[in-house]
Amino acid sequence: MSQERITTLLTEQRSYVPPVHGKSTAWIRSHEEYEAICRKAQEDPDGFWGTRAQQLLHWFRPWNQVLKSDPEAYKYEWFAGGRLNAAFNCIDRHLISGRRNKAALIWQGERESEVRCYTYQMLYTEVCRIASALSSLRVRKGDRVALYMPMIPELIIAMLACARIGAIHTTIFSGYAEGGVRSRIQDSKAKVVITADAAMRAGKPKPLKANLDPILEKCPSVAHVVVVNRANQEVNMDRRRDIWWHDLLDDFTLDADFPCESMDANDTLFLLHTSGSTGKPTGVMHATGGYLTYAAHTTQWVFDMRDDDVYWCTADVGWITGHTYMVYGPLALGATTVMFEGVPNWPKPDRYWSIVEKFRVNILYTAPTVIRSLMRVGEAWTERYDLSSLRILGSVGEPINPEAWMWYRTHIGRDELPVIDTWWQTETGGAMIAALPYATKLKPGSASFPLPGIDAAVVSGDGSEESDEGGHLIIRRPWPGMMQGVYGNPEKYRSYFERFGAYQSGDGARVDEDGYFWILGRIDDSINVSGHRLSTSEIESVLAAHPQVAEAAVVPMPHDLKGESIYAYVTLVDDAPWSEALRKELRDVVRRDIGPLATPEIIQFVGSMPKTCSGKIIRRMLRKVAAGVYEDFGDVTTLAHPEVMDAIIAGCRNLKEGRPER
Ligand code: WTA
Repeated sequence: MSQERITTLLTEQRSYVPPVHGKSTAWIRSHEEYEAICRKAQEDPDGFWGTRAQQLLHWFRPWNQVLKSDPEAYKYEWFAGGRLNAAFNCIDRHLISGRRNKAALIWQGERESEVRCYTYQMLYTEVCRIASALSSLRVRKGDRVALYMPMIPELIIAMLACARIGAIHTTIFSGYAEGGVRSRIQDSKAKVVITADAAMRAGKPKPLKANLDPILEKCPSVAHVVVVNRANQEVNMDRRRDIWWHDLLDDFTLDADFPCESMDANDTLFLLHTSGSTGKPTGVMHATGGYLTYAAHTTQWVFDMRDDDVYWCTADVGWITGHTYMVYGPLALGATTVMFEGVPNWPKPDRYWSIVEKFRVNILYTAPTVIRSLMRVGEAWTERYDLSSLRILGSVGEPINPEAWMWYRTHIGRDELPVIDTWWQTETGGAMIAALPYATKLKPGSASFPLPGIDAAVVSGDGSEESDEGGHLIIRRPWPGMMQGVYGNPEKYRSYFERFGAYQSGDGARVDEDGYFWILGRIDDSINVSGHRLSTSEIESVLAAHPQVAEAAVVPMPHDLKGESIYAYVTLVDDAPWSEALRKELRDVVRRDIGPLATPEIIQFVGSMPKTCSGKIIRRMLRKVAAGVYEDFGDVTTLAHPEVMDAIIAGCRNLKEGRPER
């Protein structure tokens, strides 16, 4: 489609009606049906969620109470007294339901020829063996197991093996570097770490085990490391601590029918760290019963999942999207889930489309940043492939700009498929505001309406209702997918609720005259780079730890491809010179400590920071300058030394025009 046509469509502000084909068999067939369910869920939330939990999962013992609340402490226990096991729900029960030999997991390696497929039966056998092995390594119910692994089937097997024995898995994105990995292992006090020799990145092995070795010296909780051989790389194996994964699978003294632990619905299923508002990552905890119910429930309705669908969520399992929509949601429903090890543009920018064609993918769930990058290389790459198997397209991770939305619908969706934008967070467990493919009239760029039972609202700073102006996006009623707590940090958990007496998402949003929600992005100190949530203070503390740095302030900067990128303002200690060498060194420090995704796009040296009379950095102004807005700073009377801003603006202009800041 030509750029003019995209522009016309956007200015016409058309809305897009759901497809007719597929509607009659959809889980939710019309907006009226959606509204009726919403009314039911609102009038009788316990009845609504109880019915869903019963329909979707197998319970060893039914619950006594759908929701046990202690609103004072913001403590919510879903399905209290109920017992179940997540691995049993994701595997065992499908073995007797006619799905035993169905493909549970199709894995496409980075190389085209590398494909592995696991039926539910095959998944069962490997999960049992690894569960049995973990148990022989003395991992017990409630113990933490850290997974620092590439996108290989063993990662999913490890998660389910933990779930089987009731151990709490905590996945660490394989792109994290030293500090990111260390802080997560230390916070969770993991007993075992599962890793691989290396991850494959654009044809080259990128070491994981070798990264881990020095980190483990500072992680006394770790007794054993299990290593998957992914890339035939030479690694150091400490004979008392390290074991090969394949040796465990070959060990026939291990139990191939390892029993499931019966878990309380409110036992923790996993921890997943997200970037908190402090330098320390926040260990978001999810409970077995509520989370799994919500994962299965939203997967079924938002993606209209049917038994013969091939479903592909492209997220890394190291993030919540991979947990809920590659692993737990689809497997709980007995679906076929696709996992891809590589990246969209290596060796050529047609990998996604070739995988869609190869496995006849029906449902594709990806991120705006991917769409923008593939849009940039042109649609000729899409035209070589038969994408006619696709039925539903999804988007997650950041606001999808209407241009990307239109391109996705036109070139991938044949001008007819619904593009489902889904808003949610690590803390919410699953999609909260999302269109329903056969029910919702779509507006490009809007995540549309809250799902049934989700009481979302946009309020102003003082908590009063706000409609077409932007405000804080909050959720007023508990829902089963909500986090259970923050690991080892109850104050942090409370802080999500204290300001509004309801769950505060940290995102800004706006509701339009038709009731559609438009997400405006983070209003706390997080940055969303290519859909990855990073904390400004985590990056600031890494920069500030450098001996030549006095102070650092990190803010988001709008970026065409990544959505946002990182802009760092840095003041140096007295005699340190502003040099290119130091700039490079500081970027390297962040890259090495947190990981490449946290590398600042721009580092600007400044003489001093804009501060209030009480010495607080005024980030609001720094954000504006980074975004290229050099005036309208609002109330500047708080600024102790107004001339500071002129120097910062001049420096920023210079840098953006390719000159040093002074
Ligand atoms: C952002 C990822 C706009 C948002 C599932 C949120 C979105 C943060 C959308 C959570 C969307 C996610 N539209 N913004 N559809 N989806 N976000 O915890 O700022 O990695 O707060 O969870 O991503 O990121 P997280």
